[in-house]
Amino acid sequence: MSAAKRKIAVIAGDGIGREVIPQALTAVRASGAPVDFTEFDWGAERYLRDGVTVPSDGFATLGRDFDAILLGALGDPRVTSNIHAKEILLGMRFRLDLYANVRPVKLLDASLCPLKNCEPADINFTVIRENTEGLYVDMGGTFKQGTPDELAVNEDVNTYKGVERIIRYAFEYARRHGRKRVLMSDKSNALTYAGGLWQRVFKQVSAEFPDIAPAHMYIDALCMQIVRDPRQFEVIVTNNMFGDIVTDLAAALQGGLGMAASGNLHPGKTSMFEPVHGSAPPLAGKNVANPIGAIATAAMMLDHLDLKREAAKIDTAILEAVRQRKTTSEIGGALGTREVGEWIANRVAATT
Ligand code: IPM
Ligand code: MN
Repeated sequence: MSAAKRKIAVIAGDGIGREVIPQALTAVRASGAPVDFTEFDWGAERYLRDGVTVPSDGFATLGRDFDAILLGALGDPRVTSNIHAKEILLGMRFRLDLYANVRPVKLLDASLCPLKNCEPADINFTVIRENTEGLYVDMGGTFKQGTPDELAVNEDVNTYKGVERIIRYAFEYARRHGRKRVLMSDKSNALTYAGGLWQRVFKQVSAEFPDIAPAHMYIDALCMQIVRDPRQFEVIVTNNMFGDIVTDLAAALQGGLGMAASGNLHPGKTSMFEPVHGSAPPLAGKNVANPIGAIATAAMMLDHLDLKREAAKIDTAILEAVRQRKTTSEIGGALGTREVGEWIANRVAATT
């Protein structure tokens, strides 16, 4: 894979996605990474124009013709059903079977952390979120909608295969990254069927990794501990819904959603990379959104594509931007989205 140019599908999407993704592309170009970008117009504009969320061969094209996908954000107040976001984002996760949502939580500078006395060394863990099952499968329905007897159900689906592969992914990730602990989080004290499966599989799989210490916390206790003492975590594995919630909480520890990167992976298949933040309609079009989450996400993508040197250059430039406050205002700087992107790209280009 190392010689060929990597083909990247780019979906900037909606809102601030359209501002931060161009900055991510600029940083990647500045790194000299051998990549080819192809832009797709999927998002609210397109949907409002012709009613198409994903063209009929869309997912097949992505899976067949591209090495990776870089996505901005989806969500637009004009599409109140949010149907396009669901079909594009969740569609990609499900149809491309991107079962591991990898969300690193890394504090770059003490000033970014809302907790007292936290240094970068104190916050450095990764949440591995199951990404294809759980409450997100869209199974369920409504009954007697709009009446006083209305009933609404969303099923929480957990398969042996799905639980096994995500837990195994977490242990393999830990091993690859020199981590010594994997903590599984569930709610098996109340949700006994699904929790029972997660507990049993965790025990089974952890036995195959004697070099890595297994641990467990209920999800409510985990939320409390992440705020009380984040130093104790290395790799956390959990289900789709809990992973969604806990990664917003964790993002706050690293300076907010604008800083957080993520990858939606299936080893060996076309994987998708997106910042953890959404389209943030109130911030859109004002050149105020923090592009660092998107730029860090692009670096994560390069790393995944085995372009490690280019990825490292971008990560180093991000760290410098944060240290020198060449950032947007919500993390202490005075620059706009574009100016932060340009500063980082110049820095990347100057790195040999
Ligand atoms: C995320 C987002 C999505 C999710 C939404 C937009 C459906 O919050 O990627 O964390 O819940 O997975
Ligand atoms: Mn979320």
